[in-house]
Amino acid sequence: MNEFSAARSPGGKVLVAGGAGYVGSILVPLLVEAGYSVVVLDRFFFGDSLAATASAKRGSLKLVRADIRDVDDSVLEGVDSVVDLCGISNDPACDLDPAVTTAINVGGASRLIELALTVGVRRYVYASSCSVYGYGERLQMTEATQCSPQTLYAQSKLKIEQLLLAKGRCSSGIFQPVVLRLGTLFGVSPRMRFDLALNAMVKSAYAEGKICVDGDGLQWRPFVHVGDAASAFIIALNAPSRLVSNRVFNIGVGENNWQIRDLAIDIQLCLPGSVIAYSKQCRDSRNYNVDFAAAKTELGFSASTSVKQGIHEVIEAIGSGKVDLNDERSNTVRHYRALFAQSGLGLMLPVVSVPEASIA
Ligand SMILES: NC(=O)c1ccc[n+]([C@@H]2O[C@H](COP(=O)([O-])OP(=O)(O)OC[C@H]3O[C@@H](n4cnc5c(N)ncnc54)[C@H](O)[C@@H]3O)[C@@H](O)[C@H]2O)c1
Repeated sequence: MNEFSAARSPGGKVLVAGGAGYVGSILVPLLVEAGYSVVVLDRFFFGDSLAATASAKRGSLKLVRADIRDVDDSVLEGVDSVVDLCGISNDPACDLDPAVTTAINVGGASRLIELALTVGVRRYVYASSCSVYGYGERLQMTEATQCSPQTLYAQSKLKIEQLLLAKGRCSSGIFQPVVLRLGTLFGVSPRMRFDLALNAMVKSAYAEGKICVDGDGLQWRPFVHVGDAASAFIIALNAPSRLVSNRVFNIGVGENNWQIRDLAIDIQLCLPGSVIAYSKQCRDSRNYNVDFAAAKTELGFSASTSVKQGIHEVIEAIGSGKVDLNDERSNTVRHYRALFAQSGLGLMLPVVSVPEASIA
């Protein structure tokens, strides 16, 4: 908790686009609990665990099954703030169909920004990624470091950052965009992702006794727990405009910058008998070690879960059956590939049977 955290939340109505995903499934119940009236806009590509989770909480939650590519402004009725978590959320899934990725991650995200400007939304918090840094020539990349996005995913993130900040600059302070560049997330969520580095390595060590490392494993990643990332969105919603408006913040903590090889070694120590397999063929073009001073000193952001704690959390969740290793949806690219095979991710695809629902 910090001075801008949920405990001091002023409430209000917030739209969370992509709110049924890995981050949203943690963030949305926190917002509801903090007194926000929450509208979730999502295609529910990964299911409806959010409805079950949130129904146990007091407060107001509305789930709207719609596509960000053709949503209209009715979803923003009475909305004061937007959190945009929506889109295709990793490199290989974005590469499945670049045109669809661009339509969703750039076209859909731009559409929501325009709608928000039209209806007078003030605070707009966008989930970007530290992957916009791409390949770092040096350590400790700050928000001012030149970006070098290596993938379509990272390029789409940077495009929306630039659009948002340009809109903010033109709005004389009325529109307050905030960009959060999240580190690589880890940890357990109701919409589980086993395609994220730490989660994936723990899963393969547990299930196959093997930890796969791309290249020599010397590449850096800034890790951050999914619950800590969720708290950063609440901070960004509550902080005074003078601190966050038109700003970009790296979200993470310095001590969670780890090299992949060291992560593999720690997982191996926790799961004795597993072997580390280095793949010379699979080079990793991403390498970034990030500076988090701005989030710490200006927003009071801190992380409650370390990388080591995260390894134990995921092992425990697998061991206790809290997460299902056989749920295909927990591998994002595999699941999107299956959806593409069904319909090409068309606008009207009936992916899951989540109706528009209101839980009051
Ligand atoms: N997980 C990470 O490590 C990480 C790191 C940095 C940044 N981010 C960013 O944070 C955000 C949230 O990530 P996540 O891990 O929760 O991803 P996720 O894939 O779990 O969630 C994305 C959500 O968007 C929805 N969605 C996708 N296309 C849609 C469309 N056309 N219309 C409506 N809904 C659609 C999906 O159904 C899903 O619920 C993403 O923007 C991601 O790029 C994530």
